[in-house]
Amino acid sequence: MKRSFIREILESIDEKTISFAGGLPDKELFPVKELRKAGKKVLKNKKQFQYSLSNGIMPLRKKIADFYNAEGFKTTSKHILITSGSQQALFIIAKYFEHKDIIVEKPSYLGAVNIFKTNNLNLKSITLEQKGIDINEFEKEYKDVKLAYLIPDFQNPKSSRYSKKRRKKIADIVLKEGGYIIEDAPYSKLYFDKKTECISKQIPNNSFHLGSFSKTLAPGLRIGWIRADKKIIDKLILIKETVDLHSSSISQNILNEYLKDTSKYKQHTKVLRKKYQKKMNYFSKYLKKYLPQFEFEKPKGGMFIYGRLPGINTKELVYKALEQKVVYVPGSEFYLDDKTCDEIRFNYTHSSNKDIKRGIKRLKKLAKVAIHSRVHH
Ligand SMILES: Cc1ncc(COP(=O)(O)O)c(C=O)c1O
Repeated sequence: MKRSFIREILESIDEKTISFAGGLPDKELFPVKELRKAGKKVLKNKKQFQYSLSNGIMPLRKKIADFYNAEGFKTTSKHILITSGSQQALFIIAKYFEHKDIIVEKPSYLGAVNIFKTNNLNLKSITLEQKGIDINEFEKEYKDVKLAYLIPDFQNPKSSRYSKKRRKKIADIVLKEGGYIIEDAPYSKLYFDKKTECISKQIPNNSFHLGSFSKTLAPGLRIGWIRADKKIIDKLILIKETVDLHSSSISQNILNEYLKDTSKYKQHTKVLRKKYQKKMNYFSKYLKKYLPQFEFEKPKGGMFIYGRLPGINTKELVYKALEQKVVYVPGSEFYLDDKTCDEIRFNYTHSSNKDIKRGIKRLKKLAKVAIHSRVHH
């Protein structure tokens, strides 16, 4: 199994290094004041320190169900299992499908790939295009595999978004074959234009829709959820119990308190979208200025800019970048095979504007070094 390059790097870099590596939100945008207020209220109550329900506290499950209902996706609290981040949601589902085959996008989120390997799932990767997974290849493979892990909204790492047409096609194939999809959607609220309907809405009994408060509120809360068929949720609860009994009830209650005024969260995500779009444009501007050889398309949401430095081995280059005190994730980390790769993922949400400019300027100096690190085929 591949150790996460990001985690490895995060452990070894010093404070002077500018990181475009991890998928970290901008800490300046955490709704600290509101969450502190909610926290203060929650911690006054002794009851909140007690053990709690495995599937999550009822009022929070109801509120999450209502997010779906507001979008015309009929959901009750019984369809929801609260998890410790969507990372744990992935683990629970992987355990449920242990030893099965699974289709993943190429490239895909390393954190999920590692979970699937740990649970002995057999991975088959299919090329991800800008409009979604290669649908012909998908149709062919899905007939036998009947399970797929997809990130349709602002994918990690590629920032691609599935077109409505591909979403419909996938839903049709899944229904026809009687299989399942795991739709991982932590970035779905971070759109710059408008929200696209999830695939799961078309196939409510054949999907696991994963949500998270990590990218829209604060990852430190470690709260995410699974929306699935009630009967499946009942089975997943049994697995959840073996993992950690329940997710932090203190975090859940703080969230529940924060979400009582629904307009607050709506307003907060609106601000996030605006600020992140601005940051993305700022990052793109300096990429074009200092690293004109980097080929990329501006994303329509999410947290990443993905592109390529034609012919350059970006994994070799990253160690040189580290010497210049700037870091990104080389594309090779998101592929199952260890092939050399000229792709790069930049996170644009975490760093300040000042650091974005300085960091990309440092990368400019690497252009010369890069000539000597060409990909050898
Ligand atoms: C696609 C994807 N899924 C899941 C996760 C895990 O998020 P969480 O903090 O909700 O566990 C991440 C985190 O970066 C992610 O990018």
